[in-house]
Amino acid sequence: MTVPDVPDVPQGPNGPGVPSGPGVSATGGADPADRRRERDALARAIAVSASALGVCTPNPPVGAVVLDAAGEVVGIGATEAPGGRHAEVVALDSAGDRARGGTIVVTLEPCDHHGRTGPCTSRIVAAGLARVVYAVSDPNPVASGGAGTLRREGVEVARADDDEVSAARSGPLRAWLHRQDHGRPLVTWKYAASLDGRVAAADGSSKWITGPVSRRHAHARRQEIDALVVGTGTLRADDPALTARTDDGRPAPRQPLRAVMGLSPVPADATVRGTDGRFRHLATRDPAEALGLLGEVSHVLVEGGPRLAGAFLAAGLVDEIDAYLAPLVLGAGRSAVSGAGVGTLAAAHGFRIRGTTVLGDDVHLRLTRPGLTRPATATTPTAPTRGPR
Ligand SMILES: NC(=O)c1ccc[n+]([C@@H]2O[C@H](COP(=O)([O-])OP(=O)(O)OC[C@H]3O[C@@H](n4cnc5c(N)ncnc54)[C@H](OP(=O)(O)O)[C@@H]3O)[C@@H](O)[C@H]2O)c1
Repeated sequence: MTVPDVPDVPQGPNGPGVPSGPGVSATGGADPADRRRERDALARAIAVSASALGVCTPNPPVGAVVLDAAGEVVGIGATEAPGGRHAEVVALDSAGDRARGGTIVVTLEPCDHHGRTGPCTSRIVAAGLARVVYAVSDPNPVASGGAGTLRREGVEVARADDDEVSAARSGPLRAWLHRQDHGRPLVTWKYAASLDGRVAAADGSSKWITGPVSRRHAHARRQEIDALVVGTGTLRADDPALTARTDDGRPAPRQPLRAVMGLSPVPADATVRGTDGRFRHLATRDPAEALGLLGEVSHVLVEGGPRLAGAFLAAGLVDEIDAYLAPLVLGAGRSAVSGAGVGTLAAAHGFRIRGTTVLGDDVHLRLTRPGLTRPATATTPTAPTRGPR
């Protein structure tokens, strides 16, 4: 299950502060029927790119759709695991000769460099495609320049319309783009609380505050991220597995790194260690240092508890919130956050609501930090501010 998102309002062809690249043309001149098919193809490319989340890091989760010369879909692809094929190549492989004279629609500008795989631009030229439509310019200086190379090879290259660019930027690519822009991963804080904001009752019991539909949603979310972090307090209280599980309770095919943060030792028999080598102990209390210790990940989910969430908030390192609220009132017990560095209402950490979904008896709120798309002082603690409502 892909968690739906609300597109950002574009402030430029590729979103705020992101240049469109030299010589990139708009799609305005295209035949309206072709443009409709390309728009549908891009929506499909964005959707299919979600299958690369949690698999392709540190590469971007890209989606591509090949249309033949008559505008029929003949190939679809998403980025494979590192060392595997890029989305364009997957789509072109499935299209075969039917790609000749057609169009490839892709969520990110085709790459132009020799990495572990050859440049997608060469493959596009070799396939005999007549036209390339892409949404987001590649901000990575090593891989960018694909649009210009293709144009020099005689391929017509067009950038998607602003609303499509915005949808692509705020879809599965957004965490990877965040890492390119800010030099650190996107951080989502996730919690499950009662109506009065408590994540555990007075006696410490917390299983389960929210219902099975919320828990399934949260497990689907775990498959889309790269690393999951809890504090040593949660380790001690819950001995969590921190694995992603499918609806029938079995381990999901995509598993994030499992990390415990704090200076206390992690017992040798802690469930979180598992046997797959995907456990990390982040022996620090500095959120920025912890993110660095996780390596080249794009998306980190901080699942609490309250003190760890407070530390990330106080450091200005919570970009998104996944809040699951149950229709229960506990009246006592642990609040969702402690130590967030807020002494007065005017200093509260403000977020924008991007989506609300009813999940069984619960409500899921998805929020983002105002100005999330602007490059910021990524690893420097920022003064807490109250965002606009
Ligand atoms: N419902 C939910 O969504 C949810 C989710 C998670 C947890 N919980 C509940 O939360 C409770 C545990 O909460 P908690 O606050 O005790 O645990 P916590 O936030 O998971 O861990 C706190 C510990 O993390 C370490 N730590 C690392 N960096 C820190 C920093 N910058 N600031 C402060 N501490 C830092 C410290 O231990 P060191 O001494 O080791 O450094 C600290 O004692 C449990 O009842 C659990 O069930 C609920």
